[in-house]
Amino acid sequence: MSNLKGKHIILGISGGIAAYKSVMLLRLLVKKGAEVQVVITPNGKEFITPVTLSSLSGKPVVSEFFTANTGEWHSHVDLGIWADLMIVAPATASTIGKMANGIADNMLITTYLSAKEQVMVAPAMDLDMWRHPSTQRNIETLRRDGVIIVEPEAGELASGLIGKGRMEEPEKIAEAAERYFSRQEELHGKKVLVTAGPTFENIDPVRFIGNYSSGKMGFAIAEEFAERGADVVLIAGPVNVPLRAEGIRRIDVTSAREMRDACVSHFNDMDYVVLAAAVADYAPAEVSDVKIKREGTDGMTLHLVKNPDIAATLGALKKNQKLIGFALETDHELENALHKLKKKNLDWIVLNSLRDPDAGFMKDTNKVTVVGASGEVIDFPAKQKSEVAKDIIDVVVNGETE
Ligand code: PMT
Repeated sequence: MSNLKGKHIILGISGGIAAYKSVMLLRLLVKKGAEVQVVITPNGKEFITPVTLSSLSGKPVVSEFFTANTGEWHSHVDLGIWADLMIVAPATASTIGKMANGIADNMLITTYLSAKEQVMVAPAMDLDMWRHPSTQRNIETLRRDGVIIVEPEAGELASGLIGKGRMEEPEKIAEAAERYFSRQEELHGKKVLVTAGPTFENIDPVRFIGNYSSGKMGFAIAEEFAERGADVVLIAGPVNVPLRAEGIRRIDVTSAREMRDACVSHFNDMDYVVLAAAVADYAPAEVSDVKIKREGTDGMTLHLVKNPDIAATLGALKKNQKLIGFALETDHELENALHKLKKKNLDWIVLNSLRDPDAGFMKDTNKVTVVGASGEVIDFPAKQKSEVAKDIIDVVVNGETE
């Protein structure tokens, strides 16, 4: 039985020749047991009639904000709450651009902006439009906003040209929807702890020792675990990035000691613990209650003491938990990562090097090598941190089933 049974799906159709394939997609989704509400743009109706779509879906097609003769308002907000998934197929260059930039001038875009759950986009356009930097920028924005892109295929296009831009076949789009729902259940019942961001170690009320960690890597990992159905506790240092997934329990801390205490108090219950935070190794031995003055001094010496090693502390407490650390290196990368893996009793360590231009602090991308306690060394190319999070979780979860 398909896992689409009983699911509420919005099928958004924009104005491209591939709209004829949306009829097949609609039929397939309904056959698999989904309840489908079609939302079509005014241009979409030039390619396919609402009568065909409403007959197949069993629901009136929504296109305008109001029904002209009755004044009935079609609530995109209610639709956004109702849907478990929204699929935009075909998504033209114009619709993709509007989605990426929040240009809410039709019902499909307002519904997209109101959608609470996952959105999936199947682009369809001519090859030059597809590879245009503006389209690619918009696709990248949608990916960053968490939208799943069902990549177009290469082949003969409506224009007669040959290249990438054909909307993916309806069967493949339906499979992507099924994959999405099964992914949501993948880690159901698993408990996960993730640390993210820097720690700040106070010197006085206005100064601290910190580092450049933005929290993006750790947040991406927490979000990906949550999207796979896990119960996630995120312990975050002082960061300023938005949390995209719902249902994550977030605990904000400032110093390494606070982070250690929060980690230890949650550790027992956990199945997976991922330590992506850049924890300060040292803290001032004393914290001044008042702002340290510059006048009357030639300079200043700070006496620092070692902070607790959170990873090693958890490594010593470990029972059945899978413990995954990070190693941020500038030299002798693999050697240093292996040393940390053993010393901290980790199951996996994720190596990223500041020598890689696409890796490390603050960037949206990272380039990692995942190293296992059993000798696995898996290299990944540079990717968006959201994609890196998927790779790391795939390795860690598959490692469990081996
Ligand atoms: O936050 P972003 O801007 O997205 O950047 C991401 C990142 C570069 C911070 C991230 O990818 C990363 O590498 N995090 C770990 C940084 C780090 O502190 O590495 P390390 O090699 O010094 O530490 C090794 C491991 O021990 C890490 O898992 C760290 O969390 C942990 N550690 C370190 C020191 C300490 N006192 N306690 C610890 O638990």
